[in-house]
Amino acid sequence: MTDANDFDVEFRGITKRFGDVAAVNNVTLQVRKGEFLSLLGPSGCGKTTSLRMIAGFEQPDEGELLIGGKDAVGVPPYKRDVNTVFQSYALFPHKSIIDNVAFGLKQRGEGKAERRAKATEALELVQLSHRADDRPTMLSGGQQQRVALARALVMNPRVLLLDEPLGALDLKLRKEMQFELKRIQEHVGITFVYVTHDQEEALSMSDRIAVMSNGVIEQLDEPRAIYDNPKTAFVAGFIGEMNFLTGTVTSANDGHWTVDAGVGVPVQGFGAAPLNEKVRVGLRPERLVVTPNSDETGTNRVLSTVLSKMYLGDQIQFVVTLPSGATVIAIEQRASVDPATDNIKPGDRVTVSWDAHAPLLLGIVDADKSNSTDTSTTKETR
Ligand SMILES: Nc1ncnc2c1ncn2[C@@H]1O[C@H](COP(=O)(O)OP(=O)(O)OP(=O)(O)O)[C@@H](O)[C@H]1O
Ligand SMILES: [Mg+2]
Repeated sequence: MTDANDFDVEFRGITKRFGDVAAVNNVTLQVRKGEFLSLLGPSGCGKTTSLRMIAGFEQPDEGELLIGGKDAVGVPPYKRDVNTVFQSYALFPHKSIIDNVAFGLKQRGEGKAERRAKATEALELVQLSHRADDRPTMLSGGQQQRVALARALVMNPRVLLLDEPLGALDLKLRKEMQFELKRIQEHVGITFVYVTHDQEEALSMSDRIAVMSNGVIEQLDEPRAIYDNPKTAFVAGFIGEMNFLTGTVTSANDGHWTVDAGVGVPVQGFGAAPLNEKVRVGLRPERLVVTPNSDETGTNRVLSTVLSKMYLGDQIQFVVTLPSGATVIAIEQRASVDPATDNIKPGDRVTVSWDAHAPLLLGIVDADKSNSTDTSTTKETR
């Protein structure tokens, strides 16, 4: 059994509206002690609003918010045991690095020696103790962000809230800082609630990811489960690349199902499926195998035509047209592929096949929302 004390933060049916917009819509969420939890989703989905409610800068319109198992609604920000790291570092330009880090401790009334010791320790953690007496402007963006992190960590909060803290950094520095943040979080053991719209960032750092869309959490799971087992078409399309097929479930028994997606052969996969319903099926590009000079078709093996081919260094990306007219993307690793695959050209007849574990059932297609001519779409998020 779990009780509220097992969670550092808990949302119970929380709604926050701005005018007619429900920025956060009846969200229930439990953040475990010591975990690195990411809120991931596109712009405007409610990530920052969720974080600001935890910090106490916004109040929910409905629902309960608990921090450390205690009701936090109405508790002012400075009385909450949480700290926030923003994308803009907001360091004091005229104070030294160590005074910036120690500032919150001074506000809290801690003595000079203790402040210095704690601030030095925090700077060591972010590997900047040798810059303690410099001014912020003498540091790079990544270093300034580490100072901002040290300034939050030194307060030893129950929960650290981070809102796109690496957003202003270039790609290489971002990667380094992702690694750093994860290392630091594991070292200090403080609960991190991390906001990002970058799926790779969330996948590489988090213990769990809450994928948000339009104010709701679509799925909350470990990174691997989010990628391998997306529960909705939105999650499937937002995380990584995904091909979508739409069709009717023609059989569903003994733990596998068959869908007629209009590609001339049955699409078969494992799991439960709603018989006779119109469903959406996802296929990851890397799970598709393109075979040249082959006209052997059958279940999960479709005769297709190559539309385009692109080299991505270590990979080849094909766009192929299925008999239904739909196009799908297939990605082959060059190192492991049959050399004949390298010679495929646009216009060639090929087969596209996949393992029965590859197709993901992504739910029933809502007849009201779906466009009947749209039998398949391919979406890229990168
Ligand atoms: N103070 C506000 N007043 C009015 N509307 C707001 C306010 N803050 C947020 N919203 C609206 O609430 C919704 C969610 O905003 P939020 O800032 O939480 O999104 P986000 O997921 O953090 O997006 P981004 O990735 O762009 O930062 C948006 O529609 C936004 O316009
Ligand atoms: Mg935001």
